[in-house]
Amino acid sequence: MKEKIEQLNKLKEDAKLGGGEARIKAQHDKGKLTARERIELLVDEGSFEEIDTFVKHRANDFGLDKQNYPGDGVVTGFAKIDGRPVALFSQDFTVFGGSLSETHAEKIVKVMKTAMKTGIPVIGLNDSGGARIQEGVVSLGGYADIFLLNTLASGVVPQISVILGPCAGGAVYSPAITDFIFMTKSSSYMFVTGPNVVKTVTHEDVSFEDLGGAETHASKSGVAHFIYENEVETLSNVRKLLGFLPLNFMDKSPELGFDKTNIKPEPKLDKIIPDNPNKPYNMKDIIHLIVDNNDFFEVHKDYAENIICGFCRIGGMAIGVIANQPEVLAGVLDINASVKAARFVRFCDAFGIPLLVLEDVPGFLPGTEQEWNGIIRHGAKLLFAFSEATVPKITVITRKAYGGAYDVMSSKHIRGDFNFAWPSAEIAVMGPKGAVEIIFKKEISMARDPDKELEKKIEEYRNKFANPYITAERGFVDDVILPSETRIKLISAYNLLRTKVDTNPKKKHGNIPL
Ligand code: HXC
Repeated sequence: MKEKIEQLNKLKEDAKLGGGEARIKAQHDKGKLTARERIELLVDEGSFEEIDTFVKHRANDFGLDKQNYPGDGVVTGFAKIDGRPVALFSQDFTVFGGSLSETHAEKIVKVMKTAMKTGIPVIGLNDSGGARIQEGVVSLGGYADIFLLNTLASGVVPQISVILGPCAGGAVYSPAITDFIFMTKSSSYMFVTGPNVVKTVTHEDVSFEDLGGAETHASKSGVAHFIYENEVETLSNVRKLLGFLPLNFMDKSPELGFDKTNIKPEPKLDKIIPDNPNKPYNMKDIIHLIVDNNDFFEVHKDYAENIICGFCRIGGMAIGVIANQPEVLAGVLDINASVKAARFVRFCDAFGIPLLVLEDVPGFLPGTEQEWNGIIRHGAKLLFAFSEATVPKITVITRKAYGGAYDVMSSKHIRGDFNFAWPSAEIAVMGPKGAVEIIFKKEISMARDPDKELEKKIEEYRNKFANPYITAERGFVDDVILPSETRIKLISAYNLLRTKVDTNPKKKHGNIPL
C-alpha cells in the first residue's frame, strides 16, 4: 500500500507541473500566475478539492500522441469562498496554450453539471488560445457543449468569467453568455479574431490592446463588467462580488449585520440637489450616503456612465442599484445605458436581489444616431426588464422624471412597490422649455416680446409640473419624503417587502426585444 500511496502522491505532484517548469517560468515572466496559483488566491485557504486531475486527451494527430499532460490544460473542482461553495475551472496556459480539447471541455462540463445540480455558482478562470487546433471538430463540439451548459445554467446559478490571458475565437462566447466578466489590464484580451485576421479582412492596423484589451471592453464594447490592474486585485474582487450573490435562484443573498442604532436622518442629503434644475450633481454622492458603510460595488463603471449600476447593502440586505447620473449627458437614457441597465435588472431579478432605482432622467436621447441604431428597440429592453421583474422594487425620484423615461424607470405603473419622490422632483411629459414651445407655439410667436413670453410660459409650466405633488395626488408616488430620511424609509420598506410574492403569467418564456 505504501508504494501505491507514494505513486499517487507522485502522479499528483507531476500533474501540478502542467506543461512543465519552462512554460511556468514563461507564464510568470509575462506577469501572469499559473492556473493553480490563481485558484489559491481566489478561494478560502485549503478549501480546493480538485477532480479529474488525471484526465488526458485522446488525440493522436500532429504529434499530440507524444505530448500528453495530466489534466489536459484545465484544473477543475470545487472550493469555498467566504465559507460558501463554488464550482470552478482554471485554464492552464502552460498546456497547449490552455487550448480547449474534447477532454478539456468534458472536464468543464462536468463541474458545471454538478454546480447546477447542487445549486452553486460557477467561476471560470480563462486563459486560452481557443479551440485546440490539432483536434479539429471535436474541439468545436466541446465548445458547443459548454455554450449549451452556460445557457441552461443561466438564471439557475450565477456564472462568473474571469479573463486572465488571451481569449480568442470560441473562447469568448462562453464568457459572453455568463453573468459577469472580469478582465485584468495589460494581460487579458478578448476577440473573435485577432489583429492579424483583422488586418487581412478589413486592412485595419490594430493592436491587441486596442482591439480587445481590458480597457477597450470596459469602456467601448461593454463586454467587461469589471477591470483591475492585476490578477491579485481581480481575484479579490471576484470574491467581493460573490458576497452579494445567492448561491442559486432559490437561495438568498447573504445578509450582513448593520448598526441598528444608527438608523437616523442624513442631513447632507438635503443639500445635494442644486437650486438650478439644469445644474448637474453627482448621483454617486447620494448612493454613498444611502447605502450601508458607504460601500457601493459598481458594475460596468466605465461604460455608459450616464447610468450607474451596482450592488450595495441597505439595512444589511443585498440590493441592486440602478441610478441615472446627471453628471454624464444629464443622465439621459441612450442605447448603451438602456442595455447596460436592462441586463443588470434581469440579473438581479433572476437571483432575487431587490432593486433600488434613483431617478433623475430628462428622457431618451434624441437624434439620428440613436434612432438609426435602434434606441426604440434597446430602450424597450429596459422597459421590459423592469416590467417583468418581480423582486422588491423601490424608486426614489430625486429630480427629473420626464416622458417615457418616467414610465421606464420602475414607475408605479410597471409594478414599483414603493415609489418615493423628493420635494425637488419634477414629473412631467417633457422638460418645461420643450413643452411650452409646443403647446404655446402660437402665443409665443405672436407675442410682442417672444423671449419674455417664452420665459413666462416656462415659469407657469414649471410651477404646475415641476414638483411631485400632482403625481402624489394620483398615488403614482406613494410619498414625498425628506431627502435626509431616505435611508430610514428604504430600510423600513425593504423590510416590509421581505415577504413580497409576485408572479408573471405562465408561459414558456417572454420575448424581450433583443
Ligand atoms: C493548440 C495552441 C493554441 C491552440 C496556442 N497554442 N494556441 N495549441 N491550439 N489554439 C500553443 C502554442 O503552440 C504554444 O505551444 C503555446 O500554446 C503557447 O502559445 P504561443 O503562441 O507561444 O503564446 P503567445 O505568444 O502568448 O500567444 C498566445 C496566443 C497565440 C495569442 C493565444 O498562441 C494564438 O494566436 N493562438 C491561436 C489562437 C486561435 O486562433 N485559436 C483558434 C480560434 S478558433 P508550445 O508547445 O510552444 O508551448 C476557435 C473556434 C471555436 O476557437 C469556435 C466556437 C464557436
